[in-house]
Amino acid sequence: MIMKKILFFALCGLSVFTGANAQDSEKSLKEAYKDYFMIGVAVNQRNISDSMQSSLVRREFNSITAENDMKPVSVHPEEGKWTWEKADRIANFCRQNGIKLRGHALMWHNQMCEWMFYDKQHNLVSKEVLFERMREHIHTVVNRYKDVVYCWDVFNEAIKDGPRNPEGMDQPLRESTFYKICGNDEYIRKAFQFAREADPNAILFYNDYNECDPVKRDRIYEMVKEMKAAGVPIDGIGMQGHYNIYGPSEEDIEAAVSKYAEIVDHIHVTELDIRVNKEMGGQLRFSRNENAKITEEQKQMQEVKYATVFRVMRQHADKMDCVTFWNLSDRDSWLGVNNYPLPFDKEYKPKNAYRVIRDFGNK
Ligand code: XIL
Repeated sequence: MIMKKILFFALCGLSVFTGANAQDSEKSLKEAYKDYFMIGVAVNQRNISDSMQSSLVRREFNSITAENDMKPVSVHPEEGKWTWEKADRIANFCRQNGIKLRGHALMWHNQMCEWMFYDKQHNLVSKEVLFERMREHIHTVVNRYKDVVYCWDVFNEAIKDGPRNPEGMDQPLRESTFYKICGNDEYIRKAFQFAREADPNAILFYNDYNECDPVKRDRIYEMVKEMKAAGVPIDGIGMQGHYNIYGPSEEDIEAAVSKYAEIVDHIHVTELDIRVNKEMGGQLRFSRNENAKITEEQKQMQEVKYATVFRVMRQHADKMDCVTFWNLSDRDSWLGVNNYPLPFDKEYKPKNAYRVIRDFGNK
């Protein structure tokens, strides 16, 4: 009898053990990272309607960003005209599945409501008119999704690329139409104030690319630091994370997160992908690598880079709240399928890079 009992418990133990093991090896990304940060994905309409794709989204991710459907031009193409259908579908998908939604983006020089900048004669409006239009836009969008959106990219990509001015003062701002109208950074400050007014509970981000480049990193750091000191409600910095297999280096990624962590309590990697050519960043002109096949060496390098990014981010889990991939699979990637930038391939199957990320590979 005693022997039987021992055998019974031993078997139970064994089955619990193998059960845990089996589960472990099938762990999803969000489960693997639950003690560190959320794992997000940028979605298009197919990703949330196709049953295979949407179950993959539900299984792997606990934060969603609308790839395009909440951007200014998508929801507010003309003065007084609001087009909510696609954004609503994404918000409803999140509500129904208990997935958190990152709002992206309230203000950006691309995919912007161009009409906001001009009067009926197509002259630039005054900054007062621009601010009033921004206020109405930001209040309306933020209010509509308040119940489900937990954070917003309030201003996207306001800092310019390129080296510092060797002669004297560095003008850090992108020379966008916002800048042309205002002549200084007031439009950024206003955007954050309007977002805070509209939702005091949302976490408000400044989001940018090439954020690990030391020159651009310092411009972002200095701007956010100075604005926070002046009372502008910026809670977080979004590191877009459009990287490639060659860079940025571990040292540059580490240095950027550490610097940002000095001035904000929330850091997100907002748009992670690792392409196989030498381009990087958020510029909308890039090579789609037509017909290029990924080589074994490139695959390895991509795995190393993904391992590095996630290792650094895990080390900063105290301030890192969420790491979001920009798109679900290589097929969906804005960079084109032949840049092979994501952990899921064009058939939505996990690559080895997926396992490296999930299993905390230290390549
Ligand atoms: C991209 C989308 O993925 C594309 O579909 C669209 O054509 C252009 O914008 N930085 C950002 C994202 O903040 O919104 C951009 O998304 C990629 C660069």
